[in-house]
Amino acid sequence: MSVRFNEDEFALLKNLLLIYEWGQRTLLTKLNIMQEDFKSFQENNPIEYIKGRIKSPESIAQKLYKLNLEITAENVKTHLKDVAGVRIICPFARDIHYLVGLLRSMPDVNILDEKDYVSNPKPSGYRSYHVILEVPVFYSGKIEHVVVEVQIRTEAMNFWSTLEHKARYKYQEHIPEHLCDELVICANKIAELDQRMFLIHEIISLINQDT
Ligand code: GTP
Ligand code: MG
Repeated sequence: MSVRFNEDEFALLKNLLLIYEWGQRTLLTKLNIMQEDFKSFQENNPIEYIKGRIKSPESIAQKLYKLNLEITAENVKTHLKDVAGVRIICPFARDIHYLVGLLRSMPDVNILDEKDYVSNPKPSGYRSYHVILEVPVFYSGKIEHVVVEVQIRTEAMNFWSTLEHKARYKYQEHIPEHLCDELVICANKIAELDQRMFLIHEIISLINQDT
């Protein structure tokens, strides 16, 4: 089986990717408004920054191949949930669950699935909150519900997962055991650091209230 889209399927994929981009942009606009509201009118801002990415055709083809599926645009639409990705970086771990609550309360956003790797980290040490949701996009006179994967994590969790991802890539998923152990130790230290930084933040907030 070829790990590439053939010419016809690639043409279909290109159109499909455009729709994913519209869905991502719709969600990003909602999140940016939320962030501006926090900055302008609220005391604390649970959003440090937001990033979006659309999966490349090469990665999409690889993933379908891994799933033993034919490399077609139809299979992308049916089986992949992370073509459009949005990452929200929060100042503190507590902000993550707060933001999930806000996503759940958005009237035109439909949550399909949630994975709480913050409360239940992966054996690798990975921490993040994943929400698979769909946003409505209106085009060609119809509404399409576009699936977007949202990953919510702190800057420290992001630092860890970026490095671990790099290791996975370099070792083609087979990271040597001593490095895996070291990564788990670092992940736990990072979780502790997040907690201690939050305590400092709480203390500072109390001082501000007094003055
Ligand atoms: P994928 O097929 O990788 O999408 O996994 P999945 O469908 O089982 O979903 P899961 O929630 O486990 O992972 C989705 C995404 O989270 C991945 O594509 C990565 O971006 C990220 N992720 C999950 N586990 C890890 C991990 O152990 N390390 C790192 N660095 N990222 C992870
Ligand atoms: Mg993925």
